[in-house]
Amino acid sequence: MNIRAAVLEQFGQPLNVTEVELGEPRAGEVLVRLRACGVCHTDLYTASGADPSGYAPTVLGHEGAGVVERVGEGVASVVPGDQVVTLFSPQCRECVHCASPDTNLCLAIREQQNKGYLPDGTTRLSRAGEPIRHFMGTSTFAEYTVMPEIALARISPEADPERACLFACGLSTGLGAAINTAKVQAGSTCVVFGAGMVGLGAVAGCRLQGADRIIAVDLSQRRLELARGQGATDAWIAGPDTVQRILTETGGFGADYTFEATGLVSVMRQAVEAARMGWGLCTVVGVAGKGETLEVVPRLLITGRRVCGSSFGGVKGRDQVPELVQLYLGGRLDVDPFISHRIGLDEVNRGFELMERQDGIRSVITFD
Ligand code: CU
Ligand code: ZN
Repeated sequence: MNIRAAVLEQFGQPLNVTEVELGEPRAGEVLVRLRACGVCHTDLYTASGADPSGYAPTVLGHEGAGVVERVGEGVASVVPGDQVVTLFSPQCRECVHCASPDTNLCLAIREQQNKGYLPDGTTRLSRAGEPIRHFMGTSTFAEYTVMPEIALARISPEADPERACLFACGLSTGLGAAINTAKVQAGSTCVVFGAGMVGLGAVAGCRLQGADRIIAVDLSQRRLELARGQGATDAWIAGPDTVQRILTETGGFGADYTFEATGLVSVMRQAVEAARMGWGLCTVVGVAGKGETLEVVPRLLITGRRVCGSSFGGVKGRDQVPELVQLYLGGRLDVDPFISHRIGLDEVNRGFELMERQDGIRSVITFD
């Protein structure tokens, strides 16, 4: 079938919204009609050419929510009409990592996905006979996409797709960092560095876990206001004295949990230093640039601080994304403040511009 999609033709150039061909879903694959898709930093990062593992041409987009149209042979976990969220982090439920409760890093299709292919090593996307590669196994800046069954989370039909798509990436990453990775305990003190989509999700996750005090740190007063809305008890403008301020406010010890959601290694270092002596846990969620390193004074570790990282918030997508969506449906999580702009697929480059200007949290492309 012919579909409209936003193609990254060349790094550093605006995306080209154009017609491409999409093949039928093969065994284990599903045809999804997109209804909404968030515009995320990872899309922009790849489009810019800064990611050395990036490739073109490809159809970008990875924060999709949509409806199952058709399924390939052997697909049993979704049927046409199901509402789904796309997962760049799949869950095969069979590999050694899926079998472990300690990680969400499914191994099933990693290699092919990283190269831009579906699990059988081919693409369903093409143009005039030339293959176009899939991005993050999702390629959701498009009217339709074909994805592996193991990369789709079936969610409540009640969920609004514009809100549901937020759970495909940043929001689940932040929520999961607090709930799954750090397992924040009730009554604790938490600090979240960075109040973008991921940091705001972490603030909400700390609140849902019953944290007593949640300090949000960011450069933007507007984002800090959003953090207050998600449950931050304190909202501080970031500065060189932030660590000292945290130590002062915690009797000289530091916070029980710190979260880094900016991707800046200098801030990661602050997050480690602000974690409490004895048991403080620093969770690194932001993605640093390729080749950058994090400097940690070993004494900080010897004296009981721990550092861990989290990808997609440790969320096992097919099992847990539906549960996280339920938090919003049940009124325990207000996702509306995250949607700052609604745009059409043709305006995807404007979505990038808004992000570069740090205007709002998320632009969501709607297709209906
Ligand atoms: Cu993303
Ligand atoms: Zn797996």
